[in-house]
Amino acid sequence: MIGITHRLSDSLKNFISENQPDKIFVLCDANVIQYCLPAISVEWPLEIIEIAEGERCKNLTTCENIWEALANGGATRNSLLVCLGGGSTTDLGGFVASTYQRGIKVCYIPTTLLCMVDAAIGGKTGINLGGLKNYIGTFRMPDAVLVYPEFLRTLPDAEWQNGKAEMIKHALLSGKGWTDILQNGFPDQSDIREWSQWIEANMKFKTSIISEDFAENNIRAMLNFGHTAAHALEFLYMNQGRQLSHGQAVAAGILIETIAASMMEVCPVGLLDNIRSCIHDNFDPVAYNPSDVPELNMVTRKDKKSKSGNIVCSVISEAGKPSPPLSVPETVMYKAWLQYLHETA
Ligand SMILES: NC(=O)c1ccc[n+]([C@@H]2O[C@H](COP(=O)([O-])OP(=O)(O)OC[C@H]3O[C@@H](n4cnc5c(N)ncnc54)[C@H](O)[C@@H]3O)[C@@H](O)[C@H]2O)c1
Repeated sequence: MIGITHRLSDSLKNFISENQPDKIFVLCDANVIQYCLPAISVEWPLEIIEIAEGERCKNLTTCENIWEALANGGATRNSLLVCLGGGSTTDLGGFVASTYQRGIKVCYIPTTLLCMVDAAIGGKTGINLGGLKNYIGTFRMPDAVLVYPEFLRTLPDAEWQNGKAEMIKHALLSGKGWTDILQNGFPDQSDIREWSQWIEANMKFKTSIISEDFAENNIRAMLNFGHTAAHALEFLYMNQGRQLSHGQAVAAGILIETIAASMMEVCPVGLLDNIRSCIHDNFDPVAYNPSDVPELNMVTRKDKKSKSGNIVCSVISEAGKPSPPLSVPETVMYKAWLQYLHETA
């Protein structure tokens, strides 16, 4: 059961009635407790497990706390964990649910744009290992994903940007909606009805990729477009004690990887120009120094997706036409980092 709902409590009630869990636990953070939890009203008792906000919750200590809360609360293999929140909550909660007593039922109710269009779809769960992002995790499809776009009304602008970056990626990979975004931009954030349609199209696209390649053996890798460079930027910022939003990193990553693909004549210059103008119109540039480039290159080489020490990027040759994972020589990647800097200086 994956879909948009405009009557969240009814959809959740249906799911619970069909599955008859003996206990229901809800995983969420303080913001979500304030803004989103009141929208849920069901006749069964809900036991709330509160976690820290955002990325900070994705660690083994939090998992242990949740496993203990479940055990102390009497959770059995027939219990249900509802993950109400953004991608941090669904990644963490999905992992906890897939490992507690070897797996209990889990329902995702995403509350951020990024989670609605991306993180809640596809069954990748994960926590971080120190600074290594999503290093520990499982592939486990949730038993239900109930998307209630009304939750977006309280979402801060910076969180909207994170979702929009992934939607630009989907539009470029699928070819659908790309011209719209390029020419007209995104709909007004207050137009939730219009956003519901955009969200649904994105969910469908990601679901179609996952249904062909759940374990990321081939075509699912295209969803990494922009992320090799983005993860290196996030790593650099973290090491320098600076803040960088994931959306800003992904947007810059899409552009930097496309610059590299264009240098290798995989992506035509016209498409690079369009991507450049879309990214500049929608996102602030990411700032780094030329002296950071060797470190950025080193991190991209160590990326989970790298093969035999080569930098591997998922890029496109035209909108709607992903190319096979591209092995980018270090010298080319080096020039791409510098060109992005030059363009955004
Ligand atoms: N599993 C996947 O396939 C996948 C894909 C993409 C991203 N991710 C993961 O998703 C995580 C990021 O998730 P995210 O961007 O959804 O954000 P998040 O879960 O980190 O939450 C961001 C902030 O938004 C707040 N928030 C959530 N919903 C709100 C609402 N409706 N109103 C007001 N505030 C709200 C939260 O309290 C938090 O402070 C990362 O850890 C990333 O690795 C996973």
